Amino acid sequence: MKRKVSALIVAAGRGTRAGAGLPKQYRPLGGEPVLRHTLRALLAHGAVRDIQVVIHPDDVPPYEAATEGLTRLRPPVFGGDTRSESVLNGLEALAAKAPDIVLIHDAARPFLPPEIIDSLLTALQGSPGAFPALPVVDALWQGANGKAEAPHPREGLYRAQTPQAFDFATILNAHHKATAPADDDVALAVQQGLDVAIVTGDERNYKLTTPADFARAERESMMDIRTGNGFDVHAFTEGEAVTLCGVRIPHSHGLLGHSDADVAMHTITDALFGALAEGDIGQWFPPSEPEWKGAASDIFLQKAVERVAARGFTITHIDCTIICEAPKIGPHAEAMRAEIARLTGLTPDRVSIKATTSEKLGFTGRKEGIAAMATATLVKL
Ligand code: CTP
Ligand code: MG
Repeated sequence: MKRKVSALIVAAGRGTRAGAGLPKQYRPLGGEPVLRHTLRALLAHGAVRDIQVVIHPDDVPPYEAATEGLTRLRPPVFGGDTRSESVLNGLEALAAKAPDIVLIHDAARPFLPPEIIDSLLTALQGSPGAFPALPVVDALWQGANGKAEAPHPREGLYRAQTPQAFDFATILNAHHKATAPADDDVALAVQQGLDVAIVTGDERNYKLTTPADFARAERESMMDIRTGNGFDVHAFTEGEAVTLCGVRIPHSHGLLGHSDADVAMHTITDALFGALAEGDIGQWFPPSEPEWKGAASDIFLQKAVERVAARGFTITHIDCTIICEAPKIGPHAEAMRAEIARLTGLTPDRVSIKATTSEKLGFTGRKEGIAAMATATLVKL
């Protein structure tokens, strides 16, 4: 039976070690709040059914800004003075929906690779708890006042990461029984004699703790920026409306095509596949397969968006130009932006929809069809 998996993000801390100002989970990274990156990483994994975020009562406005347009989020709940209290509040809020498994994750770890979630879910088949960790590689020293005192063996020592994954009922019960706060949920579970499996963590899954971590993240975010372009044409045919970027526009003709012939959405989809160098829409959805006949084009776009996330990229911008003499695009451009923003998880200020005629020249000028071109920009953080 498929297990119901919920994620619980603790975001109620104050981030004191990261310096003054906005708490670290709301600070921008590559133009978007840390928390939004974290949520995207979890939402991109097919197994995650929904997400509960635990926030500080002072952080409602930045939370709302950071989560705008994201789906599968449960209403936020408030945390407590310790991380343990924050986790417990989140678990209690989730209890009504009774997931089978909960992934408890730090808001401040935005670079969670999807493979970690895969490993955790596998490990949970044989253990009530599992977490990612990396063996300590540096020599360890006990020291005081800036002076080395005694070496400490590093054998058998691990650096813990999150998500820490548990059978939901087991960890909720462990929290109810706990008498003192613990550093993390593994500590709490182990204190109570539960088995917790270690799976291989990932250096990329580091926690943003100090200003230096933010500097590193910004540096790394500059590393893989890609643009892709797309171009598509559909001929007019008999009909009374065209669909462009998912918006139905009444017109003297329809558009001819195997799917719903949404030439603009196809172009944007191809721009995304192009940026990933993963072929084009025709390779992913062959027109020879009857399955896609008359299909709504958002299926195609959603596939491209899913591939972007699976490859660890974030879409930062989409620009699309529609070329036709008619219908007039201007009155519908805002609705199109909103629809593309919704489907891609972008805010509308990162989606541009423009139109031009071709001065009555060529096939678009002769009103034989509509052409569209698009550019998509992706960033890997
Ligand atoms: N956290 C929480 N509630 C608390 C304390 C921490 O939800 N009372 C969350 C933080 O928001 C963070 C995660 O637990 O996502 C890991 O904690 P940490 O990195 O220590 O974050 P902060 O406590 O915010 O930072 P600092 O310790 O530097 O103040
Ligand atoms: Mg802390």
